[in-house]
Amino acid sequence: MGAPTIRAALPGDETAWRKLWRGYCDFYGASLGAQVTDRTWKRILDPDSAVMCVVAEVDGQVYGFANCVVHENTWETQPVCYLEDLFVLPSARGHGIGRALIEWLRNSMRAEGWARVYWMTREDNERARRLYDQFALADGFVRYVIKQK
Ligand SMILES: CC(C)(COP(=O)(O)OP(=O)(O)OC[C@H]1O[C@@H](n2cnc3c(N)ncnc32)[C@H](O)[C@@H]1OP(=O)(O)O)[C@@H](O)C(=O)NCCC(=O)NCCS
Repeated sequence: MGAPTIRAALPGDETAWRKLWRGYCDFYGASLGAQVTDRTWKRILDPDSAVMCVVAEVDGQVYGFANCVVHENTWETQPVCYLEDLFVLPSARGHGIGRALIEWLRNSMRAEGWARVYWMTREDNERARRLYDQFALADGFVRYVIKQK
C-alpha cells in the first residue's frame, strides 16, 4: 500500500465516510440513531460548523478518517482541536494511515494556530496507544461524564 494522501472530506466521500463511521461505532459497540449520523455528516460539510473531518486516501480509495472539533477554550487565546474519532479500516491497518492522519493534524495545528490537538482513548486500547505514545505522553487526566439519560 502506498503513502496515503490526507485531505478534508468532500461531499463525494459520503459513502466511504459512512462505512468508516459504522466501523468506528461497531468498534465501540455504539448504536447511534440515523439522525445523529446524518447530522454529523452535514456538520462536517458545513464550513460554518466547528466539526471537521480529514480522510486518508490511497489510489483513490478512502481507508481512514479523523473527525475533529475545533473550539475555543479558557486556557489559551487560540482555539484547540479535539480529535474525537479516529478509525482505519481493519484491512488497511499497520500501513501508516493512522500516523499520517495525526501528523496532518499536527501540521494543521501549526498552520492554523491552534494551541493544541488533544484526544482520549481507552486505557486498554493498546494498539492505538502504541501509536499515540509516539506523539505525546498521556497526561494522566481521568474522564468523568454526567449523562442526561
Ligand atoms: C488505532 C488506529 C487508528 C491505528 O491506525 P493504523 O493505520 O493501523 O496505524 P499505523 O499504521 O499508522 O501504525 C502506527 C503504529 O501503530 C502500531 N501498530 C500498527 N500496526 C500494528 C499491529 N498490527 N499491531 C500492533 N500495533 C500496531 C505500531 O506502534 C505502529 O507504529 P510503528 O509503525 O512505528 O511500528 C487503527 O488501529 C484503528 O482504527 N483501530 C480501531 C479504532 C481505534 O482504536 N481508534 C482509536 C480510538 S481513540
